[in-house]
Amino acid sequence: METASPVEPLHLRACLARFVTGVAVVSYLADGRVRGLTVNSFTSVSLAPPLVLVSVARSARATGHLGRVPFSVSVLSASQGDLARHFAGTARGPVEVGWQWTDDDLAPTLSGAIATVRCRPWRSHDAGDHRLHLGQVVAADLRADGEPLLFHRGRFGDLGSGHAAAQLAGSC
Ligand SMILES: Cc1cc2nc3c(=O)[nH]c(=O)nc-3n(C[C@H](O)[C@H](O)[C@H](O)COP(=O)(O)O)c2cc1C
Repeated sequence: METASPVEPLHLRACLARFVTGVAVVSYLADGRVRGLTVNSFTSVSLAPPLVLVSVARSARATGHLGRVPFSVSVLSASQGDLARHFAGTARGPVEVGWQWTDDDLAPTLSGAIATVRCRPWRSHDAGDHRLHLGQVVAADLRADGEPLLFHRGRFGDLGSGHAAAQLAGSC
């Protein structure tokens, strides 16, 4: 019988990076300013009630705010890699950020996103070095027919790129 060996963190990260995800920006208001962070841990959870989840590192600045304030999730299009880097703190240069505001107390969403959900905080749970934030969706919008931005093995891609297409065709 195979025995479980201790899981080395970098090896685990490499294994989990084989899982293809989309990329989203979580936005929220803090100290009168809109802030955002790039995530790929965005997950649908429930339709009734409508719930979504994001997993945020305890070390992230967002951890001091999420769970207490409304947040929005903007699903990025394939052309928004620069925004993904910007909100991950790894921008290659200046990036123009456009916010779409609504006449309520919810968090704004990113212009150009292919879909958005706006949430009120529902529950938050500790999970190791992360915190899981569940949001109750109060508004959901399909914005554009664009292709999604993908993330796989530490790289951005899209459904048509050589990298993503080869991997998605089953070569991994
Ligand atoms: C593609 C991608 C996905 C990411 N996903 C997450 C995530 O799911 N959770 C997380 O806490 N950080 C994630 N990060 C890292 C955060 O975006 C980054 O640490 C950010 O600077 C945190 O911002 P803050 O400290 O202002 O809250 C991701 C980064 C990238 C490039």
